[in-house]
Amino acid sequence: MTNLIAGKKSAELLEYLTHRRSVAAKDLNAPGPDDAQIKTILSTASRVPDHGKMFPWHFIVFRGEARTKMGAILKEALLKKEPEAPLEKIAQEQARFLRAPVIIAVVSRIRPGKTPRWEQILSAGAACQNLCLAANALGFGTNWLTEWYAYNDHVRAALGLDSRDQIAGFIYIGTPEKMPEERPRPDAALLTSWWGSDAPLNRGDNYDKTELTLPD
Ligand SMILES: Cc1cc2nc3c(=O)[nH]c(=O)nc-3n(C[C@H](O)[C@H](O)[C@H](O)COP(=O)(O)O)c2cc1C
Repeated sequence: MTNLIAGKKSAELLEYLTHRRSVAAKDLNAPGPDDAQIKTILSTASRVPDHGKMFPWHFIVFRGEARTKMGAILKEALLKKEPEAPLEKIAQEQARFLRAPVIIAVVSRIRPGKTPRWEQILSAGAACQNLCLAANALGFGTNWLTEWYAYNDHVRAALGLDSRDQIAGFIYIGTPEKMPEERPRPDAALLTSWWGSDAPLNRGDNYDKTELTLPD
């Protein structure tokens, strides 16, 4: 590859990162990304820091009818844990994957090797965020969710996951119905220490959440 970028000024990228927001899954409409766009999104998601070249993640794409099939699995999972679940709740689970046109599960998979487990998990998180940013750059809104079903054994088995796999996120992707509202953000200065001063570390433990701010 000849067109590598490693430190290129981009006011556009910086503005994007300082103003980015998720869009609630229920506000993600069709159209979603097409085949070529999904390919771009997934190759971008795979281009993340990854100690030891372990690629400790894999992707599962849900779209079209696959979303309805997933709804049936969620219904089964719900009824296993709540046999008396009301009809409304059952219907809600069946429709859960219909909230957005495309959903991509990023699965963290621990590979054998020297790279610590924790670092492999972090790389999967980076894949999730790169996946979101790539979809955003193509003009789609995203929502990184786990919700209850990421941790449900019936769902995990139905997806074919094993003990090395952990769902890092289901990334819902679609066309935003409306602009989301801003969400308060922490003041990074209150979470940052400058090594060498005598001041105690700013660990955020006593963070006063009333100090959360809305960015300009
Ligand atoms: C691993 C992970 C799982 C998440 N799961 C959920 C979830 O199940 N439900 C939810 O409302 N938000 C969840 N979020 C938070 C949203 O993705 C999002 O970050 C949050 O709403 C803040 O919005 P922002 O992305 O605009 O900063 C999760 C975030 C992460 C990193």
